[in-house]
Amino acid sequence: MAPVWAAAVTLTACHPPAHSSDAASRSAAPAIDWNAALRDADPQTGKVVASRCTACHSLEPDGANGVGPPLWGIVGGKVGAARDFPYSVALRLFAIKSPTWTYEALSNYIAAPQETVPGTKMTFYGIKNDRDRIRLIAYLQTLRPSPAGEGAPPPDKP
Ligand code: HEC
Repeated sequence: MAPVWAAAVTLTACHPPAHSSDAASRSAAPAIDWNAALRDADPQTGKVVASRCTACHSLEPDGANGVGPPLWGIVGGKVGAARDFPYSVALRLFAIKSPTWTYEALSNYIAAPQETVPGTKMTFYGIKNDRDRIRLIAYLQTLRPSPAGEGAPPPDKP
């Protein structure tokens, strides 16, 4: 009879999606207001967090490839663009979908490299703490020729 059949279908259709507790508890998931967060973050404390990256990454201008690619200018930079670095297929594919290291993309990758780019060669557990990651990104953002372009007046200013 129709009602029985319909009930069975409803039951399967209403089966709740599997929520891994890991995904649910992942700190990177809720959106961070980056402008506000970075305004309040101290890049110098982020420098301490960045010491966890330097075993594998150079943070110097024109840095060489190490276990990982150099990270100078990485904030807002292109994904997978270090010259001659043997990126994983996973990261190359990620670069097609997500070509720029936006705050959000970088934050998600640093929080959980393997979840954000499954199969990445970056064998690093991740920085789960939001505040540490925000400070770290505030510091990484200073690693460029002219930090945030501050001090330069808009060209058409009267
Ligand atoms: C154990 C070594 C290791 C550590 C520690 C490590 N990384 Fe990596 N990282 C890698 C490797 C290897 C890759 C290349 C990933 C690939 O090709 O899949 C990578 C790639 C990256 C990329 C992508 C770069 C690009 O050119 O697109 C970013 C961004 C990054 N790492 C940031 C960090 C930050 C920030 C830290 C510190 C919090 C860190 N990594 C710590 C090994 C490491």
